[in-house]
Amino acid sequence: MKVYITRKTHFSAAHRLYNPELSDEENQALYGLCNNPLYHGHNYVLEVTVCGDIDPVTGYLIDLKKLRDIIEEKIIKYVDHKNLNLEVEFLKGIIPTSENLAVAFWKQLEKEIPNGKLYSIKIYESERNIVEFRGEE
Ligand code: NI
Repeated sequence: MKVYITRKTHFSAAHRLYNPELSDEENQALYGLCNNPLYHGHNYVLEVTVCGDIDPVTGYLIDLKKLRDIIEEKIIKYVDHKNLNLEVEFLKGIIPTSENLAVAFWKQLEKEIPNGKLYSIKIYESERNIVEFRGEE
């Protein structure tokens, strides 16, 4: 029987949305406030969902403490209180929109889930702006 289990966590980070292939004017028109050359911050919420079968021995799909530690080790420690444009190796060369963060976080986690499969990465950049990635091309 398939179940879905979600670990919700948060991190705070700075970013700037800027595409070096566009002019300053085009970047400003495209990204508005998120184009501020001096960066700005968000309090992000991250939801990681794993899907799989219940282990008959433990009654768990995955121990949530274990999932928490993996998310901490593979994502949070790199991004929390960091500048996403400048300080995060696995985000180098990426415009740090929530869309791109979701895909990058997926790559960080995909092979790390010991029980079940990574099903979804959801990023709340604010309460109203939410991006989800399910590993689809
Ligand atoms: Ni922003």
